[in-house]
Amino acid sequence: MSDFATKRVIPFSPPDISELEIAEVVEVLRSGWITTGPRVKLFERRLAAYIETGSTAIDCEETDAIGKYSNRVVCLNSATAAEELNLRILGVGPGDEVLVTAYTYTASASAAIHCGAAVKFVDIQKDGDPVTHMPEMDYDALEAAITPKTKAIIAVDLGGIVCDYDRVFEIVERKKTLFVPKLSDGTILGNLSTRIQESIGCVAVVADCAHSLGASRIVSRTGKGKSPQPERKYCGSIAHFTSFSFHAVKNITCAEGGASAWCLPQAVYDSGVTDEEIYHMYQLLSLHGQNKDALAKSKVGAWEYDIIGPWYKCNMTDIMAAIGLRQLDRYLGLLVRRDVMIKKYSAVCDELGISYMKHHVDGTDSSNHLFLIRIPEITIEQRNRIIEKMAEHGVSTNVHYKPLPMMTAYGQDCSAYPNSYDYYHNLITLPLHTLLSDEDVEYVCEVLKAVVGEERFSEIH
Ligand SMILES: Cc1ncc(COP(=O)(O)O)c(C=O)c1O
Repeated sequence: MSDFATKRVIPFSPPDISELEIAEVVEVLRSGWITTGPRVKLFERRLAAYIETGSTAIDCEETDAIGKYSNRVVCLNSATAAEELNLRILGVGPGDEVLVTAYTYTASASAAIHCGAAVKFVDIQKDGDPVTHMPEMDYDALEAAITPKTKAIIAVDLGGIVCDYDRVFEIVERKKTLFVPKLSDGTILGNLSTRIQESIGCVAVVADCAHSLGASRIVSRTGKGKSPQPERKYCGSIAHFTSFSFHAVKNITCAEGGASAWCLPQAVYDSGVTDEEIYHMYQLLSLHGQNKDALAKSKVGAWEYDIIGPWYKCNMTDIMAAIGLRQLDRYLGLLVRRDVMIKKYSAVCDELGISYMKHHVDGTDSSNHLFLIRIPEITIEQRNRIIEKMAEHGVSTNVHYKPLPMMTAYGQDCSAYPNSYDYYHNLITLPLHTLLSDEDVEYVCEVLKAVVGEERFSEIH
């Protein structure tokens, strides 16, 4: 095995926590208010401003911004909860089908199952999207899979690259005649979701943007409808409903955490639904169906509350939001740093003839979350050996993802998803995070070159 003068230890994805986050958390702990409160509300408005404008610098404590960016994003304790509440607000439940890419993390599918719906997997395109190489769904297969039971499509912006939502919206538009909105069960939630389904009038486009906060794409269609000119839109302002993750390994972390955002056609508002109503429903669903949160109850004489439904408990705390607020302050700089590393990795992959995900092409600006590489003409055993050898040299890598149909929970049979299996079998995810120095990145590249070279040499001899 090759020797390197100095072995480095390169973890896969440690959190990048600065003194700013630490100071903000200490301040919350000292403030006397640690659960959902003012910091969560501020974080929600700042996220709303960011996904609308691409700017993290808007003062969301200022009166106009409070008016403009409230009731647009809801912070929760995970992206999984965010996706589940998105589907519940949409009224997805037993008897419904949700179409999910076979190539994703379990949360993209399990949230639909938690709601009682059936998941139908859709294979990816052979070798992913022809331009970005992102493992995007096969859109012809997606269209063919829609039935009168289909209520939602879960598209995943894997690694931070935004899916082709124009294609997805064209498909749901073409399949409109098959769509059957659900009947209300007469509850407050049932009434809201029926009005949303009836006024959207097609299968809902639900984006899993766990990886893609801050990513954007030039699109002509969004959840709001067709725009006169194609324009750049940020994740959270494209699909009907979106979920984000602030898990420990994500670009922005709150230790754990997530958020929901929505972007709905005018017809929804014409039917009488308001953003305040949608926001309020997320609050109810995420806090036991209780009609007052802890902060509202703490006001003088305001102890009494009602339970509107026997719902869930997945709110974000102010401690989590404190970390998120300071991460968001630093985020645009972190994205630039990730981009520098991606350029370096891309150059080495070009040199080695390795295919990789292209993060900034064709009107797409990724959030640079994961760097997936695929080594041509190797077996799964060789891929695993490369991972082991890189680990022996101190470089932690990963595989995003083993296709869901291969997993025990989903039946352990990938035969109907050959493109997903093929994409996975020679894939390695390189470490990409903002604690890596230039020297670390250089070291990862050198180890990759040496280990792939050795594997190719042993193949020939
Ligand atoms: C694609 C995808 N979706 C959803 C999730 C779930 O995120 P969370 O852990 O915040 O629930 C993850 C987490 O890794 C993910 O990678």
